[in-house]
Amino acid sequence: MDEQRAHKLLLAYERGWLAFSMLMLFVFIALIAYTLVTHTRGVIPAGALEHVDPTTVRTEGPFAQSGVIQTGPNQYTAYVQAFTFGYLPNPIEVPKGAEITFKITSPDVIHGFYVEGTNLNVEVIPGEVSTVKYTFKRAGEYRIVCNQYCGIGHQNMFGKIVVKE
Ligand code: CUA
Repeated sequence: MDEQRAHKLLLAYERGWLAFSMLMLFVFIALIAYTLVTHTRGVIPAGALEHVDPTTVRTEGPFAQSGVIQTGPNQYTAYVQAFTFGYLPNPIEVPKGAEITFKITSPDVIHGFYVEGTNLNVEVIPGEVSTVKYTFKRAGEYRIVCNQYCGIGHQNMFGKIVVKE
């Protein structure tokens, strides 16, 4: 192979890699742009967007009573406050086999609402209502754990759900 041909081959090889890296650059910029466009509307809590005033949530509206309300023949809504450092009501008492709609909000900072032994796991954001439905098939006690760091008492933030026969 003469020197001229080897040089041409090398040039073609270089151009190939140059084109590839330019293409990757374009792909990454496009991905960043896509993320910026689609993920800048804040954190969206579980369920539909529903707002409450975190400053009055303890004293006014359904969360002030924080309890379980029967809404149908076998349906209940549990209004729950997650606060530093606990849950209200505590325990949350619900019947076995009923469809429970949990509506959870926070009067202070972001908390977690994870129920051990279930797939119930939502973030609780002040000013927003997180909504999840669940049906407990076994009676007994379930521990609620806060899995969002919320301050000095975070590791002691627990609640309890009592499922009755
Ligand atoms: Cu509440 Cu961590």
